[in-house]
Amino acid sequence: MPMPHTDAHHAYWDDTQLSALIDALVARGWYVGERFIDSDLCRELRDELHMLHQRQALQEAGIGRGDERTLRRDIRGDAIHWLDRESLAQRRYLALMNELQQQINVALYLGLFEFEAHFAHYPPGAFYRKHYDSFRGRANRVVSTVLYLNADWPADGGGEMALFDEYETEREVSRIRPEAGTFACFLSDRIPHEVLPTRLPRTSIAGWFRRNASLGGVVDPAH
Ligand code: OGA
Ligand code: MN
Repeated sequence: MPMPHTDAHHAYWDDTQLSALIDALVARGWYVGERFIDSDLCRELRDELHMLHQRQALQEAGIGRGDERTLRRDIRGDAIHWLDRESLAQRRYLALMNELQQQINVALYLGLFEFEAHFAHYPPGAFYRKHYDSFRGRANRVVSTVLYLNADWPADGGGEMALFDEYETEREVSRIRPEAGTFACFLSDRIPHEVLPTRLPRTSIAGWFRRNASLGGVVDPAH
């Protein structure tokens, strides 16, 4: 049966918003959109993260992978919980990211094939030092995403994400307030970024569109 043109599934973002995202990724490697995700979904995701925090179901985030994973509070201070499709809100967000993945693949031929994401909670004083999300040649994380969940983030709340230029890596090109609904995405192996110290508890969902980077028949482990 042919799909109706007005299928609500395809109408979450309008074409202008999606082409702004695609064009920005191509031109400079990063995009930021305010009110990219609706406030109802952001509130449901925030409530779920608060509940996980209260139940002590978050784990201190490490750096590195596999056996080399270590806790480094001097590098990153967040606590995380991987999305596991346990709630309707998570499934709705993952469905939207699947829609975005298809749109990016159609426009950019990046061959993105899966999405992984975690809730993140930064307690007051926490930060995440400047880093890349993947390294050239081992880029199984291709496009990074961050959705912020904090309603009415004050101007002096801190916790901005700073993005740096792909080539002049000391040059800050954007400083993003972690306001609910704001969505950032960027090329994982090109754009250095940093979370500045937060003054208030700060919540987000960090996610990555991945390509299968199989080495010697062994798929690079997710985390
Ligand atoms: C990350 C990251 C940014 C943010 O988790 O790798 O860079 O603003 N997060 O939460
Ligand atoms: Mn990062």
